[in-house]
Amino acid sequence: MSDSKQPPVIAIDGPSASGKGTVAKRIAQRLGFHYLDSGALYRLVTLSALQKRVALDNEAALAQLAGVLDARFHEDNVFLNQEDVTDLIRSEEVSATASQVAVLRAVRQALLIRQRAFRQPPGLVADGRDMGSVVFPDAVLKIYLTADTAERALRRYKQLIEKGMDANITTLLQDIRQRDARDSARAVAPLQKSDDASLLDTTKLSIDAAVEQVLARYAAAKRVP
Ligand code: DC
Repeated sequence: MSDSKQPPVIAIDGPSASGKGTVAKRIAQRLGFHYLDSGALYRLVTLSALQKRVALDNEAALAQLAGVLDARFHEDNVFLNQEDVTDLIRSEEVSATASQVAVLRAVRQALLIRQRAFRQPPGLVADGRDMGSVVFPDAVLKIYLTADTAERALRRYKQLIEKGMDANITTLLQDIRQRDARDSARAVAPLQKSDDASLLDTTKLSIDAAVEQVLARYAAAKRVP
């Protein structure tokens, strides 16, 4: 149930490489809403832990890091302690380690308030794994955005090739399967489509078409009192 006194939230959850980040950002632009990339927060905690050599099983220390994280988002760039870490948080090392950090209950708890602080007028588009189920349970619209595993691997492959980086489709496919399994199997806030989320399968949809779908569903959701 949406809280009408609070700025509206559109929650977009789904597996990695589903395109939800791109779609969520476009929706935020179209509506003039704020945008929360919650995965970036988990990546920042991970980077900070790697830099400070905090052990990845030291839950209390990692939660402490999450609580004091000096993070700033500006346009498409992400800063940690004033340093531009936009590319660094997307590195393979951080990507692989972030899913270990994300299983820790105390870290997730420490990031809750921080995520909710993004809810500012006129509204927020939040992308992640548990935006609709945990962080913004009263979101006016909850989308579970996904695509076939092979299609997601192919999209990631094209992205990397476009950036002039090496890529291997078989490795990417394995990597996506492993991340899905880890994100879905964890005890705390696992990745899953909740009953009140609306499924959007983008396997055969362009980004533009996916954006239009979400906007249409948002317009319909707003009409329901
Ligand atoms: O969306 P992403 O790939 O940038 O997310 C990085 C990691 O953080 C990934 O392992 C999933 C996890 N994550 C999470 O557990 N909850 C969120 N709301 C967002 C991301």
